[in-house]
Amino acid sequence: MNSNTSPDNYAELDPAKIPAHVAIIMDGNGRWAKKRLANRVRGHEQGMEVVRKIVRACRKTGISILTLYAFSTENWQRPKPEVTALMALLKRFLKTELNEMMDNNIRLNAIGQTERLPEGVRELLHKTMGMTEKNDGMLLNLALSYGGRAELTRMVRDIAVKVKTGTIDPDSITPELISDHLYTGGMADPDLLIRTSGEMRISNFLLWQIAYAEIFITKTLWPDFNRDELMSILKEYQDRERRFGKV
Ligand code: IPE
Ligand code: IPE
Ligand code: MG
Repeated sequence: MNSNTSPDNYAELDPAKIPAHVAIIMDGNGRWAKKRLANRVRGHEQGMEVVRKIVRACRKTGISILTLYAFSTENWQRPKPEVTALMALLKRFLKTELNEMMDNNIRLNAIGQTERLPEGVRELLHKTMGMTEKNDGMLLNLALSYGGRAELTRMVRDIAVKVKTGTIDPDSITPELISDHLYTGGMADPDLLIRTSGEMRISNFLLWQIAYAEIFITKTLWPDFNRDELMSILKEYQDRERRFGKV
């Protein structure tokens, strides 16, 4: 075991300042594959291996919620073979990770327009969510067919219907009520947002929820991301001063 894989660096973190909710934009699978003159799908496969490792590391660190941006509403516009391969990979992930989730007390949840997912994926997803429902060690939130604007649109529509039918008074619309009507209703907002592969953009991810998230962008491509880099980001996060608009 070399120092990079030593469990010691968990101990270097301040247990009182572990972010409750970490959100990750897992980007760069295609570029990773391109660098190796391989098909983009090869990058997604490697990316899935990294998902396994990062889920495990977050669980061990004591993070309560991990939200992973796995597929955006815009990603449906990618070439069909890539979309098909991503859906197949997702299915494989759900099948192979069930035991790991049960062993580590992880609850699976999905946020996004899951009704757009192929039936086989949707069924397996709901089955896995059902089977892990009682686990309370960590919530693994997969953003699948997720888009922030679509989420906000759905929220406005839901609230508008309730106003129309008289179950909500317009004066009672507060930021809390809005939060409750998002896919992430009931969850704390992300404290930390990580994006791999260096792009300086949000790409329609958790637009409302990241209002005060600490942002870390690393040039590392997602398939090269690892536990050590996560630990160094967590350490740097702990050194940041979060002000929330105050002095
Ligand atoms: C992220 O990697 C995975 C998904 C968006 C599904 P990309 O596939 O976007 O990789 P790049 O950005 O082309 O390198
Ligand atoms: C964001 O990555 C979506 C996911 C990581 C699932 P994209 O690669 O789709 O984002 P853009 O196109 O660079 O903005
Ligand atoms: Mg990308």
